[in-house]
Parts: sequence; structure tokens; C-alpha cells
Amino acid sequence: MAKDPTALYEQGASANSEVFVIPRRTWIERYAERATEPLHLNLLALFFQVFGTFSSKVGFDLVRPRKYAFATLEAARNARDQGKRKVTIIEFGVAAGGGLLGMCALARSVAEVTGVEFEVVGFDTGVGMPSPVDFRDHPDLYQAGDFPMDQQALRKKLPANARLLIGELEYTVPNFLAELNPEAPIGFAALDVDYYSSAVNALRIFADPNPSKYLPLPILYLDDIVLPSHSRFSGELLAVEEFNATHEYRKIDQHRFLRSQRIFKQARWIDQMFLLHVFDHPVMRTAGSRPRKMYSPVDVRS
Ligand SMILES: C[S@@+](CC[C@H](N)C(=O)[O-])C[C@H]1O[C@@H](n2cnc3c(N)ncnc32)[C@H](O)[C@@H]1O
Repeated sequence: MAKDPTALYEQGASANSEVFVIPRRTWIERYAERATEPLHLNLLALFFQVFGTFSSKVGFDLVRPRKYAFATLEAARNARDQGKRKVTIIEFGVAAGGGLLGMCALARSVAEVTGVEFEVVGFDTGVGMPSPVDFRDHPDLYQAGDFPMDQQALRKKLPANARLLIGELEYTVPNFLAELNPEAPIGFAALDVDYYSSAVNALRIFADPNPSKYLPLPILYLDDIVLPSHSRFSGELLAVEEFNATHEYRKIDQHRFLRSQRIFKQARWIDQMFLLHVFDHPVMRTAGSRPRKMYSPVDVRS
């Protein structure tokens, strides 16, 4: 008799007690990536490193984490365009908290330059990865108990505008969404939960019937799509495909042509940026309410 394929994954925390600490990227690795960019742009970046404004430093990829720096600044600008004074930014999958604390620091800097305030929210089980459900969760890469968190230590470091929501995404996401104030709509979410099954529950954040809980074009960063075994048939990308198939007026698409807008074009994070198109947002239904557009007249001489 064929075995239930999911039985393989019904393990508790990893049976292996060895711990593998993921090494940080070395300076040599970072400079190696920059070395592939044109020399004159690297020299210009040195100038902006010393004399640049915060926004220009983000433009030159000098503020880290670069993906969060770009998205946080963009979310604030988009919120301001919509007349909002506050915007919500989210990290799904917090682990030790490096990403969330980075997001909080960026929110502080971006608030200073844009005047837009932030609500920062981090979602996590608090005890590391749950068990994978099946092959779509990539048990080849991730397992139960990976990425534990020291909740107490992390909470002590979080600023007043940041919240850590602990529990299974299946429950914490709908609870959070129910109380989300449209005056601080979602402008950016980073998805770093590794599993397909977790990503499905995280993306429910974009399914509230009230479109005003979102900016018209929130940014979505997908972390776990870069390894050779990641594909549209598993992991976070599969969750995105299913989200698009089941939501008529909400569609997630790659941030097309972002590369052409960036100064440094080789950075990997550019390919990890997506946008949620909120087609039922009020701004998508206001044709005729803006001044007519026209090109400046061309001087045609005969
Ligand atoms: C790779 S780690 C996140 C790393 C973090 N973003 C950083 O930059 O350091 C993935 C995290 O997702 C969380 N996670 C995965 N599935 C989850 C679920 N169903 N509910 C809540 N948290 C989940 C795990 O607890 C784990 O801490």
C-alpha cells in the first residue's frame, strides 16, 4: 500500500540537536557584488556616502537592509501621495529579529525625512518554524524548530511604534486585519516565512474586504524565492500564484522595470520586489476627477 506522503513531515522539532548558524555576508562578498557595477557609479556612491541625504543614500543602495530601505521610503512617499499621515509596514517571519529591528530603524529615519509615521508589525510563532506540511513547504531546505527567537530580549529592543504578534499566522493575521485602521493602511510587507503553507496564511493580509486598509499599490518583498529549488510550483511563489487565482480584484505581480529605475542594477533584491495591485481601491474608481492630461505642444514648423 502506498504510504501517505505527508507522514514524512509529521515530525516535531528537528531530531538533530546540532545548530547551524547562518553566516553573515562578509565585506569581501559585498564589495564583490559592487565590483560588477560601473566604476563611475561606485565613485559617485562614495561621494553620496559622505555628503548625501538619506533619500539619495537609499537611491545609491547605501542604507541597509537595502530591500527594506527602498520599500520603507517608497511606502511613506506613496502614503503621503494618498494624503495619509501614517502607514503600516509588516515583516512576516521575524526569527531573532534582525530584519524587524532594521525595519524599525529605517521607519525612524524615513519618518524624519517624509513626515509620515509608521506602525511596524512583526509576525512569528515565537518558537521557530512549525512542521512542514508537504513537499510544497521545501522540507529539503527548512524544518521544524529552525530560526528560534528570544522573545523577551527582542521585545526589550522594539520601539513603541512596533508590535510583535506571536502565534500561528492562520490566527494572528485575521485578528490583526480585523482591527487594522485604514488611517494607517498597509504600504509594505516582507514575506520571509520560508514555507508555502505559511505564505498562504500570510498573504491573507491582502484579502480584507475593505480596500482602504491598503495603499493602492503596496510593496511586497519575497525572501524565499532565490535558491535553485525555489519555483512557481512550491514555496512563496506558489502561494502568490494561488492568491492571484482566487482574488479577482487583488493581484500580485513583479515590480516590473524597477531595475531600470535603480542606479545599481545587479542587486539581487530588485528581483524580489513585487506589488499588490488593489483594483478595488477607491483611487482605481475615480476616473474623471483629475485634471485632463496633455503633452506639451510640439513646435511643428513647416
Ligand atoms: C527565515 S526566518 C525569518 C528571518 C527574519 N525575517 C530575519 O530577517 O532575520 C522565518 C520565520 O518564519 C516564522 N514562521 C514560519 N511559518 C510560520 C507560521 N505559520 N506562523 C508564524 N510564524 C511562522 C518562523 O518562526 C521563523 O522565525
